[in-house]
Amino acid sequence: MAVEKPLIKEILSQKPEGQEVTVRGWVRTKRDTKNLSFVQVNDGSCFASIQAAFDNPSAGIEAVLKKITTGVSVSITGKLVPSPASGQAVEVQGTSVEILGDAPADSYPLQKKNHSMEFLRTIAHLRVRTNTFGAVARMRSQMSFAIHTFFQEKGFQYVHTPLITASDCEGAGEMFRVTTLDPQEIAEAAYKAGRDGRAPEDAAVDYGDDFFGKPANLTVSGQLEAETYALGVSRVYTFGPTFRAENSNTTRHLAEFWMIEPEMAFFRLEDNMDIAEAFIKYLINWALEKCAEDMAFFDSRIHPGLIETLKKVTSSDFARVTYTEAMKELEKHAERFEFKPYWGCDLQSEHEKFLTEEIYGRPVILTDYPKEIKAFYMKLNDDGKTVRAMDILVPGLGEIIGGSEREENLERLENRIKELGLNKEDYWWYLDLRRFGSVPHSGFGLGFERLLLYVTGMANIRDVIPYPRAPKLADF
Ligand code: 4AD
Ligand code: MG
Repeated sequence: MAVEKPLIKEILSQKPEGQEVTVRGWVRTKRDTKNLSFVQVNDGSCFASIQAAFDNPSAGIEAVLKKITTGVSVSITGKLVPSPASGQAVEVQGTSVEILGDAPADSYPLQKKNHSMEFLRTIAHLRVRTNTFGAVARMRSQMSFAIHTFFQEKGFQYVHTPLITASDCEGAGEMFRVTTLDPQEIAEAAYKAGRDGRAPEDAAVDYGDDFFGKPANLTVSGQLEAETYALGVSRVYTFGPTFRAENSNTTRHLAEFWMIEPEMAFFRLEDNMDIAEAFIKYLINWALEKCAEDMAFFDSRIHPGLIETLKKVTSSDFARVTYTEAMKELEKHAERFEFKPYWGCDLQSEHEKFLTEEIYGRPVILTDYPKEIKAFYMKLNDDGKTVRAMDILVPGLGEIIGGSEREENLERLENRIKELGLNKEDYWWYLDLRRFGSVPHSGFGLGFERLLLYVTGMANIRDVIPYPRAPKLADF
């Protein structure tokens, strides 16, 4: 089927032989000289805009051109010719122009060029029309495609894990409750209990009356369900939204973010590290090769030196270090840190920064963490103190991947669940995997927005997802 409404990206790649084309998009700028008007039109299909030039326009066209301001949507027809201007191969010699939708200059908010990111966040429904957010939108799409391609080429099955769940995968209790119970009724029951001289907590909510007949939450991770599928079809990955009610107001945390979670039967921790490292390098190479125009923009306008840094990452090995070794390094430089490092502590971002940027100068895979600071499902080492965890930390950002080999031994897993005060009954189906045909297996989670921060050099995670959700922030 012939494409009847070519995108600007397609028009820009045509050979300019005077053929008639129609350009549809939003006006970025208009410039007039004596008998000439230039209109830059962008449709977001690629970074570049196309220029339409009107030479000695008729009175009718001139009347329309007069009304064109930044943000107006237009349809312009003309001949595609080589451009005399530098920086663009082709342009359109306009023969007709139609305004599709006005954007009054006194109220359209995207007039000037360099709006702050903070301001643009308040108009998230319009910011995609800027250079930066158009580029971010295309990178999100391209990186999603790259992720699917990587796994599909390696025999992984894409599995859709549920978003509503009764179990807390990470055991951190940072979940959003899903309920159809009426908060007003809950409050009234507590109030009545108080009035009748009973403790308000005796008016305990009966989740038997709730939609699912028990407490349910939005998932923090698709891992547990992904494991069940890996133990049937060997290699799987999930790629979907996850939700965390952690009160982290940082440039690296969202309450709703997307995560990629591969899970591989028969993989040990070493295999897990190998594939995770190959995965990150593959995604960077994809960005550099297939998104060159947008990457050039990020490199020149958002994060100078970005491309060189990323290229270096793809051609060098990640450092592989145990938690215990890393802690020794950090303790040697204790005076550098606000939070003094000690064996058993969770890494603070100042520690991650120091390890990746100063000690190793490249991405670091940290393994074998103390079991106390990791989730229940990680495989216990023979020392009884550490688990086969692996986090990947990258310079400038910190943790980008968290993963592990999974505990495949029933008894050990039950012990961990008990130690952590979790309810064994809640995990009966997860424990079944260890009862029936258990195998060694491993997996990890890559935060999609963290990946985008890394690849684009953008500074705030709220600017790499269309509509960010964070504490006190769920606009639009
Ligand atoms: O380290 P996390 O919590 O690991 C898991 O959820 C495992 N179940 C993954 C697995 O083994 N299948 O999260 C994984 C990654 C982090 O490394 C980080 O990149 C990202 O998810 N992440 C967040 N991204 C944005 N906002 C948040 N609040 C995030 N929390 C984690
Ligand atoms: Mg983690």
